[in-house]
Amino acid sequence: MLLSCDEQLRADRFQFARDRNRYIAGRAMLRVVLARQLGESPEHISIESGPHGKPVLADRTAPVHFNLAHTGDLAILAISSTQVPGVDIESLERTVDHDALAQRFFSARENAEFERISPATRNQAFLARWTCKEAVAKAAGKGLRMPLNQIEVSVAPHGQPRLLSLPDGDARQWTLHSIDAGSNYVAALALLRSS
Ligand SMILES: CC(C)(COP(=O)(O)OP(=O)(O)OC[C@H]1O[C@@H](n2cnc3c(N)ncnc32)[C@H](O)[C@@H]1OP(=O)(O)O)[C@@H](O)C(=O)NCCC(=O)NCCS
Repeated sequence: MLLSCDEQLRADRFQFARDRNRYIAGRAMLRVVLARQLGESPEHISIESGPHGKPVLADRTAPVHFNLAHTGDLAILAISSTQVPGVDIESLERTVDHDALAQRFFSARENAEFERISPATRNQAFLARWTCKEAVAKAAGKGLRMPLNQIEVSVAPHGQPRLLSLPDGDARQWTLHSIDAGSNYVAALALLRSS
């Protein structure tokens, strides 16, 4: 078994087999990729949780940072030796009240940009911004505890998104990338330069 005892216990707590299998597949993929990078065997890699639940290597001196996201049957893993990644992926099939969520989680500047987008492409445009914000929050390790309306992003129709500001830290230390995960998904990667 590739997974640690803690991971196996967590897997056992899922109510539905589908969710359990997705968790096991994600953690197994993570271990195999980390093992290749670190030159260790997958089952010997020690993964801990940070203060807000972010999985990190127990050996904080190891020059490897990673982050994982899932939606449905798809998982996405980012790994880097020089930057701290955060990733998020969402399905376009998930319908959300994007105008209400934008009012709540977007800044005034973001809402001004968002309101100019035609209704036909609003769902995609909302998720493009949402995934960028969540990717930043996940790289920072706080997840949705971070005030998302203070993670300001700009997403142009062509070209890569940009981080404009965040509650703590210097936005210039960050880069954002939209990821092509197929026509049914929207995904983003945030990278924080590690010193
Ligand atoms: C992290 C968080 C944004 C995940 O949101 P989500 O849309 O449900 O899930 P995603 O698919 O995007 O990401 C899940 C993965 O992110 C990673 N993750 C978990 N917590 C994380 C955190 N605080 N920061 C970054 N990544 C985190 C895990 O690898 C997780 O997958 P796994 O459990 O299979 O290993 C959300 O759970 C959150 O805000 N958590 C932090 C605050 C919190 O409530 N913590 C409680 C535990 S102390």
